[in-house]
Amino acid sequence: MTEATEKKVMLSGIQPSGALHLGNYLGAIRNWVERTDEFDNYYFLADLHTLTVRQVPADLRRHTLELLASYIACGLDPEKNTLFIQSHVPAHAELGWVLNCYTMFGELSRMTQFKDKSAKHADNINGGLFTYPCLMAADILLYQPDYVPVGEDQKQHVELTRNVAQRFNNLYGEVFKVPEPYIPKTGARVMSLNDPASKMSKSIPEGCVFLLDEPDDIRRKFKRAVTDSDTERCVRYDPEHKPGVSNLMSIYAACTGKSLADIEAEFDGQGYGAFKPAVGDAVIETLRPIREETRRILADKAYLEDVYRAGAEKAARVAGRTLRKVYKKVGLVAR
Ligand code: TRP
Repeated sequence: MTEATEKKVMLSGIQPSGALHLGNYLGAIRNWVERTDEFDNYYFLADLHTLTVRQVPADLRRHTLELLASYIACGLDPEKNTLFIQSHVPAHAELGWVLNCYTMFGELSRMTQFKDKSAKHADNINGGLFTYPCLMAADILLYQPDYVPVGEDQKQHVELTRNVAQRFNNLYGEVFKVPEPYIPKTGARVMSLNDPASKMSKSIPEGCVFLLDEPDDIRRKFKRAVTDSDTERCVRYDPEHKPGVSNLMSIYAACTGKSLADIEAEFDGQGYGAFKPAVGDAVIETLRPIREETRRILADKAYLEDVYRAGAEKAARVAGRTLRKVYKKVGLVAR
């Protein structure tokens, strides 16, 4: 049982508000797969978080199961990683409430994601959007993780989590482990194919390759990928002056295992015309087994249910221990 091991604990969550894409895979999930044996891992679908923005209920349900199936298809073995759905473990909402009472209005007001999202959804600036970092802090602190791998955009929330944990510990003794954000050394930062200045994201679908895209879609997206307007038109890695080509090179390197120097040599004198379809083909071959396996798993409802039930059971056991301690410390009567 992993609970009893000395391994460091790693935890991360992803919002099932859309389909997974190549950036999620090459930038995050693939690293999680590589670290499976090194850490005690918790990966969950943050479905409660998605409610801060209006969702289409049927889409939310479908995306949640699709993401879980894709996690497994990408190589996250459910026997070795605790995979679960956040709303299946009530302790998240319960500790979330408590932490709301230990997080300051001023702190929450400084969160840049809140400012961005309230600008974007000006007609729905709800309380959940504002207090969301408290729920995220609960997600994390329940499992006493050592590391929380997150992207740049979530670092501020992990910082807040550390501050809240320290504040709570100062009042009540060592209840929470204070986690570190974990920025992996490896892992490609995949940029949009239409706009290499922005991260690949589902909000720019034409520049985004989804894990379940069919080969023809992938081919088309790479054919239309923007390259740079410099005059030399050669395949050379230079993110500052040639962001489009450099992004394609990183993707190609991540999919084939070739070095950037190898790639420059391979396409020497060939221009962009030969390079773009080659990147498309490499991505198609990388994603093919993942797409096929995701479809197969999605068709096997009973298996998927087994996975998320077992995951929630294990997670609830660990989370329950922390929650009981917190309730006791703050003075709630034990049931
Ligand atoms: N807030 C994260 C995001 O939007 C998702 C998330 C929720 C998360 N809870 C978490 C990430 C806990 C890491 C740990 O991407």
